[in-house]
Amino acid sequence: MAITITLGIQKGGCGKSTTTGILSYLLKEDGYRVLAIDMDSQGNLTELLTDQPSNEFVGKSVLEAMQHNDAESYIVPINENLDLLPANNFLAMLPRWIYTGRTHEGENLPFAGNPLLILDKMLDQVREKYDFIIIDTPPAFSEQTTNALCASEYVVVMFECSNWCYSAIPNFIESVDGAREAGKRNTQVLGILRTMNDVRRSDAKAFNELIAEDFPDKVFETIITRKAPVGRLSLYGFNENVELKKALEPYKDFYKELIQRVQSK
Ligand SMILES: Nc1ncnc2c1ncn2[C@@H]1O[C@H](COP(=O)(O)OP(=O)(O)OP(=O)(O)O)[C@@H](O)[C@H]1O
Ligand SMILES: [Mg+2]
Repeated sequence: MAITITLGIQKGGCGKSTTTGILSYLLKEDGYRVLAIDMDSQGNLTELLTDQPSNEFVGKSVLEAMQHNDAESYIVPINENLDLLPANNFLAMLPRWIYTGRTHEGENLPFAGNPLLILDKMLDQVREKYDFIIIDTPPAFSEQTTNALCASEYVVVMFECSNWCYSAIPNFIESVDGAREAGKRNTQVLGILRTMNDVRRSDAKAFNELIAEDFPDKVFETIITRKAPVGRLSLYGFNENVELKKALEPYKDFYKELIQRVQSK
C-alpha cells in the first residue's frame, strides 16, 4: 500500500516542485514504485518530469482524473518505476467544477461527495500499485491543497528561510491538523525542510535557527542550499543532464532522513 506524501507551503518559490521532482526521482532510483502528482495549475512538476509543455496534457490531466474518478486512464508513465498524474492551467478551475458542476469545457458534470476527498477517493484505485505517492502543491491555499493534504499520510513543510515563509508556517501546520480531522489518512507533518538557503546571508542563518528552536522535533537536520545545478534542473531535466549528480547531491541526506522517519513511524 502506497505511502502518500505532500510537499507544501502557502508561499511561492520555496522549492516545492523541485523537491517533489527530486524526491520522486530518488525514490524510483532506490527501486520504489512511485506515482508523482502535480496538484499545481502551473504544471511545473509536469514539465520537470516529462520535458514537455504542460499544455500537452490539456484534457489528459489529474483534473479529468478527479472529475471522472478514474486514475488509471490519466497516468503518464515517465520511466520504469515512475508515473505521473500531470497538471496544466485548467487545474485552477477545480473549484468551479466542484461548486457549479461545470467543467472547463462547458460540460455539465455535477459533483457529488466530499469536496475535500476527491483526490483521496480517486487514489484508492491505485494505492496498491505504488510504494510512494508524492504530491506537489500550489503556492496558495486552495481546493488543490486541501485535497492533497487529505489524501496524504505525511506532509513535508517547505521552509525557504525568509520572514514571509516563517509567518506562513503556523497556518500551514494548522491546515495539516484540519486535514487529519477531515480526512481518513491521519495526516501528519513528517518534517520541516529548510531549503533554498543562501549561505552568505545572515538573515537566512537566523531563520534557520529560529525555525529549529520553534519546531525542534520537526525540522530535518539537512538544510538545502542554493546551488546552480539544482536551479538548472528546470532547464535540463533528469535525462541526459550532465550535471544531474551535482543537482541531486544536496538532497541525498534529506532523502535518508525522510526514509528513516517514514520507516520509524
Ligand atoms: N536548491 C536550489 N538552488 C537553486 N535554485 C533552486 C533550488 N531549489 C529551487 N530552485 C529554483 O528556484 C525556483 C523556485 O523553485 P520551485 O519552482 O521548485 O519552487 P516552488 O515552491 O515550487 O514554486 P511555486 O510556489 O511557484 O510553485 C525555480 O526556478 C527553481 O529552479
Ligand atoms: Mg511549484
